[in-house]
Amino acid sequence: MEIQPFEIERYFAAHEFSARYLLSSSDCESLSMEELVSMADGETSRMWKNLKLGYTESCGHPLLRSSVSELYEEISSGEVIITVPEEGIFLLMHALLAPGDHVVCTFPGYQSLYEVARSMGCEVSRWEPDEGRGWRFDPETLARLIRPDTALVVINFPHNPTGYVPSLQDFDTIIDITRQHGAYLLSDEMYRYLEIEPHTMLPPACDRYEMAFTLSGLSKSFGLPGLRIGWIATRYRKKLEKIAMLKDYTTICGSAPSEILAIAALRNRNRIIKKQLLRVKENLCLLDSFFRDYHDLFSWHRPKGGSVCFPRMRAVENTCGFCEQLVDETGILLVSSCIFGFGTHHVRIGFGRENFPEAIEELSAYLEKRFEA
Ligand SMILES: Cc1ncc(COP(=O)(O)O)c(C=O)c1O
Repeated sequence: MEIQPFEIERYFAAHEFSARYLLSSSDCESLSMEELVSMADGETSRMWKNLKLGYTESCGHPLLRSSVSELYEEISSGEVIITVPEEGIFLLMHALLAPGDHVVCTFPGYQSLYEVARSMGCEVSRWEPDEGRGWRFDPETLARLIRPDTALVVINFPHNPTGYVPSLQDFDTIIDITRQHGAYLLSDEMYRYLEIEPHTMLPPACDRYEMAFTLSGLSKSFGLPGLRIGWIATRYRKKLEKIAMLKDYTTICGSAPSEILAIAALRNRNRIIKKQLLRVKENLCLLDSFFRDYHDLFSWHRPKGGSVCFPRMRAVENTCGFCEQLVDETGILLVSSCIFGFGTHHVRIGFGRENFPEAIEELSAYLEKRFEA
């Protein structure tokens, strides 16, 4: 079966390096190389200075795997494989699934979380949230969708694009339902650590369920997408071996400089996350007043985590055309829900970037002019 084009990646490819204001990006402000290198401790600095640009260990640098394993309670460094985040999704699906398998996936979402399975000949059921209840993904809906032949449940919390984070009780129910059906769980935790209220941070799925695969990385919450460093953590070692075997056909191993920089980042994670979260919270306050000012044009649910939200535009029928016009006329990049295959009424707004205050002001000026708001 043919794999469909990755809509959001194509959309960003067309605009990301020409638009003036990226008001829909899901990654937090990127760190500079200088900033990150200056944080490195003695050991990492020495590794950086003496680094030879050879191939690296296929599953990742042992110190990197060990730094990753420290993020989890039940995971040892041997239960971590380093991949590019997006690559991790591709490898995991190919390691876990066979044609004809049934998969349940949160929807709308990051396209590869369902499209890779679909392209392999799997049947994918979409688990959609209830907008009227703050984008809640109701575990009862999962219970209705899951079947005896379900091989995999895919979740992503904090959720891209709605910013929804379930309660711990709902999260445990999701795991219980998955466990009762003997299905694997792929938990995409790329936006973890960006919970607006710290007590709402969920435990990692790989700590909670023996057949769970946590996918995470440094692209979003850490603001280091250029490193292309992510990982899969799981106690299911047999499947980890399969993933490692498949990786020989994608990248073989990671980039040597990126791995050392990633060790530096993880060893300074509290400092990096604190700064990113502060910016996210400040920008979210600006969004509060933006949506107060333009309540006749938008309705929204304040995100509980992550760096994106998914407001409904009351004032236009088709956000697809609106976003195209907006970027053409102002250089402000928003992403329409049509890019997510989720109708034409919503847009994704990202609030992790430093120039967000200026970008939202520019958007306000445009709205004033266009709608005489
Ligand atoms: C939910 C989710 N998972 C995975 C990824 C992939 O991350 P990367 O682009 O760094 O490979 C993204 C990127 O937008 C994402 O939003």
